[in-house]
Order: sequence, then C-alpha cells, then structure tokens
Amino acid sequence: MEGEKMDTEGKVETEKMNKAIAMAYDVQSKILEDITGDHLHTGFYDSSSVIPGSDVNSAQTRMIEAALRFASVSEDPSKKPRNILDVGCGIGGSTRYLASKYGAQAKGITLSPVEAERARVLTAAQGLESQQVSFEVADALNQPFADGSFDLIWCIECENHISDKTKFVHELNRVAAPGATIILLTWCHRDLSPLENDLHPDEKKLLTQTGSRSRVKWISTADYINLFQSCSFQEIKYADWSPHVAPYYAELRKITLSWKGIMSYVRHAGWRQMSIKFLMMPSVFDTFKNGLLKYCILTCQKPQ
Ligand SMILES: C[S@@+](CC[C@H](N)C(=O)[O-])C[C@H]1O[C@@H](n2cnc3c(N)ncnc32)[C@H](O)[C@@H]1O
Repeated sequence: MEGEKMDTEGKVETEKMNKAIAMAYDVQSKILEDITGDHLHTGFYDSSSVIPGSDVNSAQTRMIEAALRFASVSEDPSKKPRNILDVGCGIGGSTRYLASKYGAQAKGITLSPVEAERARVLTAAQGLESQQVSFEVADALNQPFADGSFDLIWCIECENHISDKTKFVHELNRVAAPGATIILLTWCHRDLSPLENDLHPDEKKLLTQTGSRSRVKWISTADYINLFQSCSFQEIKYADWSPHVAPYYAELRKITLSWKGIMSYVRHAGWRQMSIKFLMMPSVFDTFKNGLLKYCILTCQKPQ
C-alpha cells in the first residue's frame, strides 16, 4: 500500500516536472532558434577550428560530427545507421542533420508540443518528410516505440532534465536494436574520489542553485558508466569536452546580450523572464569555472 502511494506520488511529480519543462521549451526554443538557428545545443571548438567567433552554427554542426567520430559511427553504406532516434530533439536540428547525412529514417521526441510542431514545419520545408523524418511529443522515460527499433540513438543536452537516470538508460536499452550505438552529450558533475560518499555541501548548494530553475539533475560520468555496465553495454567511452564548448558559452553570452538576443527574449518570454535568465548566467558559469560541472560525451553499444 505504502509502495503504491509512493509510486503514485512519483508519477504525479514526474508529470508536473514534464509539464513545466514542456512549457519552458515552448518558449525557449523560439528564442534559441532566433539567436542560434535550429540546433539548440552547444558548439564544438578545437585548436584547428579557424572560425570567426560568431559562427556558432558551424560550431554546432561540428559538435555533431565530432560526436559521430568519437563514437566511430560507420559511414560505410552497408553499416551506416538506418533508423535513428533523437531523444529530446528540440526543433529537430540534429534529427534532420543525421537523417540527411546517412539517408536514414529518423524520429525525434520532445516534451514540448510547440517544438514538435516547429520541427515538422522545418522538416517539410527541407523536403525530408518523404524520407520518414517525424516528430512526436513523448517522454524519454516512456517511449512510444517497439523494442529494438533503432540502430543509432542520439541524445544531446536533454538527459539533465530526466530525474530517473536508471529508468532512462533502461528505456534506451529497450528501444536500441542489437549492435546499436548510443551517443549521449550532457553535463555531468565531477566524479567522486574513492574516499568521498557525496559532493561537498557547498558544491551541492551551487548545483541546486544552478539547476532548480532549469529543472535539471546531474550525476557523474562514473555513475553513467555504472548504469551502462548494468545494461551490459559494450565499447563504453567517455570524454570531458568542457574545453571544447567553453568558447561557445562565451559566444552565446555575447549573442544573448546583443540587441537581437534581448529583443528575442522580450518578444517571446517578456522582460521578467529575461531578467531571470540574466541573473542565472553567473551561477552556470561558476559551476563550469570550478570544474564542478563538465560537458561530457558518453557513448556505448548494445551487444549484437
Ligand atoms: C536544450 S534542448 C535540446 C534540444 C535538441 N537536442 C537540440 O540540441 O537541438 C532540451 C530538449 O530536451 C527535451 N526533453 C527534456 N526532458 C525530456 C523528456 N523527459 N522526454 C523527452 N524530451 C525531453 C526538451 O523538450 C527539449 O527539446
């Protein structure tokens, strides 16, 4: 009886949280599309990238290419992905990019009905509907797909919104086909040392301050690796890409503070939301600066 009550409470809590996330992205996606285009994620910079600072869109597509290389996704016509899932797809920037690159079918899921509709419009405009690129409003924890549906699962900058990481990884495992590659790009908090049981209280406080408004929850790469191992995933790899995304944040800050950025916030979210966003910025940067949060890529394969 007590267990049932906790289950119901948990479900209600998740539904409330998902509704809040959906409402936030209904608005945020419009602002981000105005200022950075159809990719709502960070960009990748390295010493060989000779790019004018403001070209964030190239940096965003470079992020996708760098991640595919890191995960060794094959470009061989007989081995390349055919069925792709983009978990937390935003307005479908990655979904369309991956579908076009591999000539594959692709599905994107998001909690935001506004994003899903915008993704459909942009996809139709690019003539990709006929290639079966489609979008649904769905929760990553309860995906509307049959077991073993996808050979590439892509999830960039979404999983931080998901509080039940174990259920999330098990759901990825369920919808992955044998041999599928899973690519996760996300922020993780630092790994604990063997002598630690938890983060320091001041670190926990900073994470709570940073995360509560954006409804996010962090774990470490070590926690993820344990979860991947619990599903018997193979070829588990990870890397800290914080230095590669740091220039992107500097750019985003400039764009957000530009006249175009401010007007976009005001138009879509109003002055109040804009001030909150601006007040939030320093705490996000603090967590990066002191190494508490890292931008990580984690990849693995489901056994054949
Ligand atoms: C920062 S945006 C990233 C969008 C997209 N991956 C991109 O890079 O353009 C986060 C996305 O995660 C989605 N999201 C958050 N929690 C989710 C959940 N439980 N199930 C499905 N999507 C979720 C949001 O709706 C939003 O589309």
